[in-house]
Amino acid sequence: MKYSGYAFIYTIGCQMNVYDSEKLASILNSCGFEKTGDMDKADVVVCNTCSIRHKAEEKAYSFLGRFAGIKKKKPHLITVMAGCVAQQDGEKAFERVPHLDIVLGTRAFSRFSRHIRSIQSGQPRIVDIEDSSMIYESPPDSVCFEENKVSSFVTIMQGCENFCTYCVVPYVRGKERSRKPENIVEEITFLAGSRIKEVTLLGQNVNSYGKKEGEISFPKLLKKINDIERIHRIRFATSHPKDLSLDLMHAIRDLKKVCNHLHLPVQSGADSVLKKMNRGYTRQQYLEKIIQLKNLCPDIALSTDIIVGFPSETIEDFKNTMDLIREVEFDSIFAFAYSNRSSAPAAKFSDQINEKEKLDRLNLLLQLQETCTEKKNKVQIGKVLEILVEGKSLKKHDGFEQFGKDMEQMTGRSESNKIVHFPSNRVNIGDMVRIRIENAYPHSLWGHPEFD
Ligand code: 5AD
Ligand code: SF4
Repeated sequence: MKYSGYAFIYTIGCQMNVYDSEKLASILNSCGFEKTGDMDKADVVVCNTCSIRHKAEEKAYSFLGRFAGIKKKKPHLITVMAGCVAQQDGEKAFERVPHLDIVLGTRAFSRFSRHIRSIQSGQPRIVDIEDSSMIYESPPDSVCFEENKVSSFVTIMQGCENFCTYCVVPYVRGKERSRKPENIVEEITFLAGSRIKEVTLLGQNVNSYGKKEGEISFPKLLKKINDIERIHRIRFATSHPKDLSLDLMHAIRDLKKVCNHLHLPVQSGADSVLKKMNRGYTRQQYLEKIIQLKNLCPDIALSTDIIVGFPSETIEDFKNTMDLIREVEFDSIFAFAYSNRSSAPAAKFSDQINEKEKLDRLNLLLQLQETCTEKKNKVQIGKVLEILVEGKSLKKHDGFEQFGKDMEQMTGRSESNKIVHFPSNRVNIGDMVRIRIENAYPHSLWGHPEFD
């Protein structure tokens, strides 16, 4: 491919956006643009946006706003807003960023190259937020690879029909659509041939994969991926508790490559809040699934998402959430202060909680989780964990010099998704090594390799 310019892509938000940005990069590649990490060199700038919380949305507008002056000096520069904010705001995006060239919704990727060519041939601004029931399928070998990458995201389904009352996803990502298993297997087989050892299957409601007539179920898809040679690990996110079936628990237990880790957002530990959130389960039902899972997979690592300060959440409700966290003992949590999104129903709920109170609750919750995470990490001391080596770590362990000049500090992840650092001069990125854990910290573990 002869390149005619450079493309800079700025990604905000979730893992799904990281995957989508790779697809956008491969489309731009086919239009003659080479990906660059240097914004100043760019001839096309794409901001792949997220609208889940107010802050993420503001970040997108402030990033794109910067290009007003730059476009005056560099008139051929093409600026693109892609993703959820584009889908949500459409034409309105031009009110805040008049110099934008393309507003590309979440379901318009298949038309992106056409829009780029139209802008290049002098057409003024384009908005494409048309619906499409298909998931954009790029040829698997068109992915632009980062050197030394050992882990990759693969979107297997898109959209969500759960309509949690705080969430914009069903409005910006549309109805649930599952990719065909053969396309997924083809993509992962290609990745495996390109030195990828771990895949994370993505979907807004990933364990609702294959629910439509004639489709294969999520556990069956996992089995197919488990059979792909050279893939060592399979992860998936994000799962909804209501779709956590016994079959899926068995798949986690029985399929060797499926990691013994589950991210299962609970959002709140109070029944009244769960009901107002429209989550579709009670505290008790969530806890029963956790008990069942722990019985089947005793060492399973668990993580969750929590929202604090949802409209009308009382101190008692918040305490129930804190108690649930103590009871389950999650390995890690992602906690958020409720953010009011005008397109989601909860924006109209009474008893909105003030920002200071939300932040106070968030801090209490994060403090509690820090102690839980540290406790969970300490349990690993003395164990031997299998680590997928991801690279060299920049920040060296205290007293690292004692290991000698030719020693590197390497880093990788355990099956339970814990970051592990260790000294070595004989392992390579992508190796699976056994590490005896000697120390635990709030965010990582430290150990030594056990070579045969
Ligand atoms: N405010 C705060 N957090 C939110 N999330 C989704 N919508 C909102 C919102 N309006 C969180 C949920 C979800 C995660 C991806 O983002 O916890 O699981
Ligand atoms: Fe949003 Fe709920 Fe769907 Fe998750 S399950 S994407 S929180 S609507």
